[in-house]
Amino acid sequence: MRAWAMVVVAAMLAGPAAADAPAPVTLPNGKTWTYDAESGRDIMRTCAACHGEYGEGGGGGVYPRLSGMHPDYLAEQLRRFKSRERENIPMIPYATERELPEKDVLDVSHYLAAIKPPRHPPSDAVAMDAFERLKLAKQAVQIPREPGDVEAGRKLYDGECMECHGRDGQGRVRKPPLAQQHVKYLRAQIDLFLTGRRPHDDVDELIRPKTEADWRNLWAYVSTLDD
Ligand code: HEC
Ligand code: HEC
Repeated sequence: MRAWAMVVVAAMLAGPAAADAPAPVTLPNGKTWTYDAESGRDIMRTCAACHGEYGEGGGGGVYPRLSGMHPDYLAEQLRRFKSRERENIPMIPYATERELPEKDVLDVSHYLAAIKPPRHPPSDAVAMDAFERLKLAKQAVQIPREPGDVEAGRKLYDGECMECHGRDGQGRVRKPPLAQQHVKYLRAQIDLFLTGRRPHDDVDELIRPKTEADWRNLWAYVSTLDD
């Protein structure tokens, strides 16, 4: 291939990735961070034991899905685990300055954010190679339906949660998605919010005045958001 053609091909290959590449950041130590996807993948090996190889979550919903979440949200939570502002006992050995310096926080957050979890494993009707099929099947996050009155849950959600968590539950920047998140994990977070162990915007107004049936209906609706 002629040199100019190689330049064109290289530019085409680099094009979309370069456009999406996160902006460099000046770290507390004065060094400049630029995104290193290889490093993100390496760090994720440690996290995979709990959160799954592609950040799809696991443990029957004890370990949240992390893939496709906004990088700023992921990085902020990791900093809070490190400072212990947000308690997370299983992650204590991993969320330290030594194990997870700021550059690693940024690499792993951007690595996870770039994995968009499909809602379903690929259908057998779609032709693709076996490796790709297996990868997509592992990445898929499909939330089983929770029992309850979906319509009543929708009303509650639209009235009290949608404003921040989005019409379709996809979240927005530092407001995390509720769709495609394991309901067991979400429920546990509500307990933490209600007992003041984790802060939540407008917690008094939004979280407290609800009956058990309201919560049941809310989760029933939230569990349909990824259908
Ligand atoms: C030993 C198991 C374990 C390992 C290893 C682990 N985590 Fe976690 N992680 C958890 C648990 C449990 C929670 C949920 C804590 C809670 O309920 O508040 C969590 C929560 C999180 C959250 C918060 C998600 C949200 O929606 O707010 C992030 C981000 C996260 N982990 C990132 C990581 C990263 C990155 C790594 C690897 C460096 C990692 N975790 C390794 C167990 C683990
Ligand atoms: C005023 C904005 C706002 C409203 C309204 C709101 N939330 Fe949130 N919610 C947030 C923010 C911001 C966070 C992330 C908190 C943090 O930074 O740790 C969050 C986090 C959560 C989480 C934890 C998700 C995770 O991945 O860890 C759950 C569960 C949750 N909200 C449920 C609800 C429900 C249910 C409603 C409606 C009854 C609701 N929220 C209404 C702003 C809001």
